[in-house]
Amino acid sequence: MQAEYRQRREQLMAKIGNGTAIFRSAPMAVMHNDVEYAYRQDSDFFYLTGFNEPQAVAVLAPHHQEHKFVLFVQPKDREKEVWTGYLCGVEAAKEIYGADEVYPIAELDEKLPQYLEKADRLYYHLGRDRHFNDKILGHYQELLRTYPKRGTGPIAIEDTGTIIHALRLIKSESELVQMRQAVAIAVEAHNYAREFTTPGRYEYEIQAEIEHIFRKRGALGPAYPSIVASGVNACVLHYIENNRQIQSGELLLIDAGCSYNYYNSDITRTFPVSGKFTPEQKILYELVLSAQKQAIAQVQPGNSFKSVHDTAVRVLTEGMVELGILTGEVDKLIEEEKYKPYYMHRTSHWLGLDVHDVGVYQHGEDKPQILQPGQVLTVEPGLYIVPDTKLAEDQPATDPRWVGIGIRIEDDVLVTATGHEVLTAGVPKAVDEIEQ
Ligand code: GLY
Ligand code: MN
Ligand code: MN
Repeated sequence: MQAEYRQRREQLMAKIGNGTAIFRSAPMAVMHNDVEYAYRQDSDFFYLTGFNEPQAVAVLAPHHQEHKFVLFVQPKDREKEVWTGYLCGVEAAKEIYGADEVYPIAELDEKLPQYLEKADRLYYHLGRDRHFNDKILGHYQELLRTYPKRGTGPIAIEDTGTIIHALRLIKSESELVQMRQAVAIAVEAHNYAREFTTPGRYEYEIQAEIEHIFRKRGALGPAYPSIVASGVNACVLHYIENNRQIQSGELLLIDAGCSYNYYNSDITRTFPVSGKFTPEQKILYELVLSAQKQAIAQVQPGNSFKSVHDTAVRVLTEGMVELGILTGEVDKLIEEEKYKPYYMHRTSHWLGLDVHDVGVYQHGEDKPQILQPGQVLTVEPGLYIVPDTKLAEDQPATDPRWVGIGIRIEDDVLVTATGHEVLTAGVPKAVDEIEQ
């Protein structure tokens, strides 16, 4: 794996020429008072280094004679390690992570300028920590001030995102191994959750079974707060209270995925808790499923990212017109976004080290993002007939038979050389497979 991290750094260095790039590890996150969450490394930092500790900085300086990859890390500290565990330390970091030079993090201000003063650009992402931003900007200003003395030094700051996020968008074989494992665990959890669900259980009981499987199978935990939404709760897109008792005759929407070695899965299924759809539930479910399948069919190299969403919107809008939920001409309804009260979110996002993974969705208004092998995206259309849906003047009042039904179906899809692979196909979604 170290070879792959090195290869990623080399790809990045090839793009920054005479620049110097600085990456910072994620800070610890506070749960409450002096209790912290389990550590989660910054995805860019992890992608380039594999190093998994806070209080670290990575510097890439391709123009430097000897030190092209430099790490600043916490030094070994026996007393601290007794409380919070192993620290890699300076010596081992050099050995294990292949850095040309490693310093204690306390020496950052002293050692950093030597890696910047010959660079023509500084590559740095302005992060949430204003204090650290100020530190880096302070170095930049100082180098600008002293520029005339040297005639060298960075004269512009560029965000690291455009370069590294374009790399992260295309998954390598080893990344796909991690993602397939994150998917396999979530598939097992969803299939068990469907078996376990009966009317009378509370949503949190289903959540507990799902997250039990995540941990038992070695995932770090949920990739995002699990959504277990019965009945009308399914109309709240990010419903996470999960505290309601499930009633017979309802649908249950489960949106849950796990994080495995930092790689994520993201799956949604909606099924009838009593084993049989009502006629209305079935009609809307079949419509969402048809939209999802047709949208997935668009996932082909050479097609635009946008075509996936456009297809889902068209199928859903046509269906709603047929059912009398919307009236008017389909093209016009789409153009005027009349479907939005019922389908208000996008159909897809990139998936990877982040659940809503990095990478652009279009290159300016007229230049679509074209799908390429190695990209992984979700396809997750839905319909949400919210009770208090406010419709446009020119639309009919929603027939009460549909009201309160919320449905989403979400798969994780890999773009392949010849088309696509639905990574999450192991969780059934056909009506006859999910009815009992
Ligand atoms: N669960 C978050 C999402 O589907 O985007
Ligand atoms: Mn998603
Ligand atoms: Mn989801």
